[in-house]
Amino acid sequence: MTLDRTHKVGVIMGGPSSEREVSLRTGKGVLESLIGLGYSAVGIDWQVGQDIATEIRRAGIAAAWIALHGVWGEDGCIQGLLECLAIPYTGSGVMGSAIAMDKVMSKRLLEQAGVGQARWRIYRSVADATAVGYPLVVKPSREGSSVGVTIVRDPSALDAAIVEAQHHHGEVLIEEYVKGHEINVAILDGEVLGDVEVRPATEFYTYEAKYQRNDTQYLCPAPLSEAEHTRLGQIALQAHQVLGCTSYSRVDLILGEGGRAICLEVNTLPGMTEKSLIPKIAASRGMSYATLVERILATASLKA
Ligand SMILES: Nc1ncnc2c1ncn2[C@@H]1O[C@H](COP(=O)(O)OP(=O)(O)O)[C@@H](O)[C@H]1O
Ligand SMILES: [Mg+2]
Repeated sequence: MTLDRTHKVGVIMGGPSSEREVSLRTGKGVLESLIGLGYSAVGIDWQVGQDIATEIRRAGIAAAWIALHGVWGEDGCIQGLLECLAIPYTGSGVMGSAIAMDKVMSKRLLEQAGVGQARWRIYRSVADATAVGYPLVVKPSREGSSVGVTIVRDPSALDAAIVEAQHHHGEVLIEEYVKGHEINVAILDGEVLGDVEVRPATEFYTYEAKYQRNDTQYLCPAPLSEAEHTRLGQIALQAHQVLGCTSYSRVDLILGEGGRAICLEVNTLPGMTEKSLIPKIAASRGMSYATLVERILATASLKA
């Protein structure tokens, strides 16, 4: 859709997921930018238990900039509602969102397409852990922000990690721990925007390392050769496309020993605070935060 500044844009944020607080920060940054750019933008803070369909209709918006993260916001639910209301929205459609939010479904498709993966299993018994081998990573299949993720180096710590993951959404997934560099690639409107290497000071890139600590290092662009930038960009774009994603996303990769690249996940509504990774990547390409927000708005569409 061709949007201009006379159209009313709703920034939908908050929501009932475990990433509500992060979403409010994303939403605030996006809303301030749109207003600064001269759009008639309004924030829609989806409160837990609220009838969001009524709130969206009441706001009378021409397009939605979805600033939600996690279940209900990133998994196709709000996208389906916006399709039904015929309100164009940013980010991937119903199917791409639903698949990318589910790490098990994503892995099945990525594997089939030949995108590198860590060895993995849905956890059903100790035999699965033995098959994957130690160290391994336990994670819930339908969460984000590292919520419920544990690295297990010894079988004695497995049970506690499984119980922790079971407290969150989706099946419990166990994955081979792949040592290497964490490279995140930003995709915008069908193209690779750039990449960043994340070096947490913690054991891995935990919730605290993402949002609460200030000792995580971000190398942007990632210190890679031109050929490696291109190769990882191609893998990321392929992962984005295989999962049926559109608009924009952030693809999390690990570059392990011997140049082995594995795809951890595709984030269809990645963090978009001014300090988040995609804005960092955009800045390294000379694109301001506000321009990035506007470029994403320009991708708003109905996809069903
Ligand atoms: N297979 C793995 N090998 C090594 N580290 C991993 C692996 N899987 C996850 N991690 C660590 O856990 C973090 C979160 O995992 P990820 O799969 O991206 O889930 P989330 O959706 O919560 O971000 C990653 O950024 C990385 O630091
Ligand atoms: Mg991740």
